[in-house]
Amino acid sequence: MIKEIQDRILKLKKERDVCILAHCYQTHDILEIADYVGDSFGLAQRAQETESKAVMMCGVRFMAETVKILCPEKRVLLPEPDAGCPMAEFLDRQMLAQLKEKYPDHAVVAYINTTAELKTLCDVCVTSSSAPKIIKRMPEDKILFIPDRNLGGYIAKQCPEKEIVTMQGCCPIHAKMTKQDVERAKSAYPNALLLVHPECDPEVVSLADYVGSTTEIMDYAKQSSADEFIIGTENSIVQHLGIDCPEKRFYPLSKDFICHNMQLTKLASVLYCLEGTGGEEIMMDEETRLAAKSCIDRMLELGNG
Ligand code: 13P
Ligand code: SF4
Repeated sequence: MIKEIQDRILKLKKERDVCILAHCYQTHDILEIADYVGDSFGLAQRAQETESKAVMMCGVRFMAETVKILCPEKRVLLPEPDAGCPMAEFLDRQMLAQLKEKYPDHAVVAYINTTAELKTLCDVCVTSSSAPKIIKRMPEDKILFIPDRNLGGYIAKQCPEKEIVTMQGCCPIHAKMTKQDVERAKSAYPNALLLVHPECDPEVVSLADYVGSTTEIMDYAKQSSADEFIIGTENSIVQHLGIDCPEKRFYPLSKDFICHNMQLTKLASVLYCLEGTGGEEIMMDEETRLAAKSCIDRMLELGNG
């Protein structure tokens, strides 16, 4: 049955010239029908390169907005309109304007997990895999980092030469993980390495053997000579790694490490969206798009190579 739906999707996406981009947190059946799977930085890079008439983003809204910002001439589709990112929606223009007033000499660096509207007020965008590199390459020394306090704190440690101010935003899923979760997992799997995403609490990050983006965590686990790993990010990564490396063992840091927004998109959502009976086409006025584009362009410029 799954194979049947996947075949219908593959046929339709070819007929309609749709490129399917999928974030690593999607389920494995979706990764199998995608043209490209990656972390937020890889998805933005790939969006720029695609030549198809339309792009479908299997992920959350800010990722589809990023594609629209980079590819205005294409139809950009989000199969599940309710798939948002609470961290991206936490901060509004007014709150950011107040912060900018408080720190007038600081360049505003936005985690890509922000709305297009907010990006219009920012200087540079970063992702978890590109942040330290981009911030080190920026000429500005004073930085206001929004909205993730945990990623901001992690970057501040990697870039001690910069003065980085952070705020109170966070990912409700990653920030929920505690030292006790680490202790529990380590006592159950004493030989496993702990790999975590920098959106986790600093106490959890300080206990990790490796810290990286979703793609970086997967690459590290695949290339490592170790054969047991505790995965400190969304549990879909445990599933993908288990399928890609059957000779190794992967354990979730917690059974509650689930992003319901990311898990909202199902194979059926992709099919209905391709058939034109579901999903949403992302629309953006040109003024917002152009204003939001400059910080993404700067990210791609400073983050490449
Ligand atoms: P990555 O850029 O590491 O894929 O992170 C996206 C995200 O939303 C993590 O929660
Ligand atoms: Fe947003 Fe967290 Fe879900 Fe990533 S895991 S999409 S940051 S809520």
